[in-house]
Amino acid sequence: MNKIIIHYPKRLVLGEKSLEQLAEDYLVSGYKRLYIITVPPVAGHIKAFKDRLETGGIMVQTDISLKGEPSFSDFRGVLTRCRRFEADSIAGIGGGSVMDVAKLVAAVLYSGQGIESIAGNGLLKDRKTHLVCVPTTSGTGSEVSPNVILLDEADRLKKGIISPCLVPDWAYIDPELTVSLPPEITAYTAIDALTHCIEAYTNRYAHPIIDNIAIEGIRLICRYLKKAFDNGRDLEARSKLALGSVYGGMCLGPVNTAAVHALAYPLGSEFKIAHGLSNALLLPYVMEYNLGASVSRYYDIAKAMGVNEGETEKDTAFNGISFLKNLIRECKLPLRLSDLGISSSVIDDMAQSAIKVQRLLQNNIRELNIEDIKAIYRMAS
Ligand SMILES: [Fe+2]
Repeated sequence: MNKIIIHYPKRLVLGEKSLEQLAEDYLVSGYKRLYIITVPPVAGHIKAFKDRLETGGIMVQTDISLKGEPSFSDFRGVLTRCRRFEADSIAGIGGGSVMDVAKLVAAVLYSGQGIESIAGNGLLKDRKTHLVCVPTTSGTGSEVSPNVILLDEADRLKKGIISPCLVPDWAYIDPELTVSLPPEITAYTAIDALTHCIEAYTNRYAHPIIDNIAIEGIRLICRYLKKAFDNGRDLEARSKLALGSVYGGMCLGPVNTAAVHALAYPLGSEFKIAHGLSNALLLPYVMEYNLGASVSRYYDIAKAMGVNEGETEKDTAFNGISFLKNLIRECKLPLRLSDLGISSSVIDDMAQSAIKVQRLLQNNIRELNIEDIKAIYRMAS
């Protein structure tokens, strides 16, 4: 059995009205200066939360500067403002971009470490600032993971920063915060979470503890995504997706992702395609590439998706990929690079970028060289 190391938040609160509980828990925590990183669509939903803190004597400053997926310079801007405020605690309330920046700002706020010296695995010294994450999408899993992804403008590559210091102290997951999420974002963020589960379950470093979490995440997301897509106010479906997303996040630290994420990064860095959308587009094609390397694992995934048995294990596994393509189609997400206006003429350049993401490619159940990566992009084009 592989060795596994698991770091999860000290406190995980999941359920309706969790945000209200966060306010009450914060008021008795002893922290006094809270820097909230969020985005304008969420700011309105957290007004009551902020008011409750301020009437309780807490100094609150809100930063809504982030737009799209964050870069090193976005991060530096937030860090400067947060230092000026002299925060003793930070809350990231939003999607993966917001939470990732909150996590990293909390880790380096008083450490003096520069962003250039911490990209990679295990390079952060410590974290002295209390860190809270509250997801408002069901996808990234950043609220329970030790991972941060930022775009480095210098080489236009997405860099991973991974450290136990990046696991929040508290994670509060309130499904009501996701009810106003538009259907398209609901769909591609959920497929990001699904990808976390599938890439962990089929990972070279898969582990029985995480296998159980991953399979349950796959089951929940495949059962409830279409319901949440059709009716965003279906709180049962929203709750199940929130749970599936947490399960996906729990897969990230101990096992992590693989080729789908590695091949998706150039779509984000070169073409500004949202992370979940990039994964949704590539997931079926990477599954087709990988399937022969672990038919039994893809069979288990297909069964968790709820598909019918085929004549052989392999037929059933393929039924799982067909189910996924159909789900993507039903959720009106693109299935081809050309649907996103990405021409096949850029495949060589994207493959050159993707091959550099060895920290994830090495996890993939089937080895990939640069020609394999080009072949997958061509399948998707
Ligand atoms: Fe992801």
